[in-house]
Amino acid sequence: MKKIGWIGLGHMGLPMARNLKNAGYVVHVWNRNIEKAEKSGLPYKESLEELVKEKDIIITMLFDSKSVEEVYKKIFDACENIEKKVFIDMTTIHPDTAKWLAEEIIKRGGSFLEAPVLGSVIPAEKGELTIVVSGDEDVYEAHLDIFQVLGKAIFYMGNYGVASTMKLINNTVLGGFMAILAEAFGFAKKAGIDPKLALDVLANGAGQSLVLNAKKEKLLKEDYSTHFSVDLIHKDLTYALDLAQRKKYPIILTANTRELFNSARAYGLSDKDFCAVLEVFKKLSNM
Ligand SMILES: NC(=O)c1ccc[n+]([C@@H]2O[C@H](COP(=O)([O-])OP(=O)(O)OC[C@H]3O[C@@H](n4cnc5c(N)ncnc54)[C@H](OP(=O)(O)O)[C@@H]3O)[C@@H](O)[C@H]2O)c1
Repeated sequence: MKKIGWIGLGHMGLPMARNLKNAGYVVHVWNRNIEKAEKSGLPYKESLEELVKEKDIIITMLFDSKSVEEVYKKIFDACENIEKKVFIDMTTIHPDTAKWLAEEIIKRGGSFLEAPVLGSVIPAEKGELTIVVSGDEDVYEAHLDIFQVLGKAIFYMGNYGVASTMKLINNTVLGGFMAILAEAFGFAKKAGIDPKLALDVLANGAGQSLVLNAKKEKLLKEDYSTHFSVDLIHKDLTYALDLAQRKKYPIILTANTRELFNSARAYGLSDKDFCAVLEVFKKLSNM
């Protein structure tokens, strides 16, 4: 069975690593905050270097481009020889970071797949993520079994950078949907409509969506326990805006949406679930 070193045990990384272990892969994990590794119930290594040296396949699920750069620079410094190792990064990163990573790994004799995921904590737990993959097609084919444990819809996207670009485009829709749903729900509350009734109508009307299905109960209860944080959607929309600027493509709605999530950050909601954007509308309308 393939031996996998898993790096990053956040909201997504932990259930994904567990699924691989449960599917019979030999998995060891590492996390910056080692307590999370200790509590995970998964075999873990205290040293990043040891993990990378022992394993043939290394999967990273970190926060953003900066954290990915930091961790891989540590790996390159600590491990002289990464020849024949396969690195798979599943973090949502800027496409420039994916291209940089591919270059750095390939010049050292390793292989790299860029494989960001769509879907949140519950699809991650169920092994039902959507995964978009860029990189060498033969390497992709040879590791498809891993993606099939983690996800149910897997798309091969071709060259480095494409998977990350598509993932960011998807999240412009995700952020936009969440924002308009929160705005509409707040509006209904302000208009004095029973909140549950309002959500039921939206779920059977124009609001019908994966996002509303996932967030209906959380909006109703104002339960902002984190699946996908405000900081993460803000990061994704910031990368998307950067790409759009370069392409001279106007993503007008996304620019406004990003600023809404930025307002949520200003209100101290950075670590909360991104449905907490409802609080911005409540504050703006003195609710
Ligand atoms: N949550 C979702 O619903 C969702 C869905 C699809 C895609 N994604 C993407 O998947 C990625 C992970 O999301 P998540 O929700 O699991 O994030 P998260 O809960 O915030 O976890 C982030 C992980 O990255 C680690 N990390 C951050 N900075 C680091 C650094 N400088 N060095 C080493 N480790 C570092 C954290 O370690 P510590 O524990 O030490 O802080 C933690 O293990 C993100 O790119 C996100 O955009 C998330």
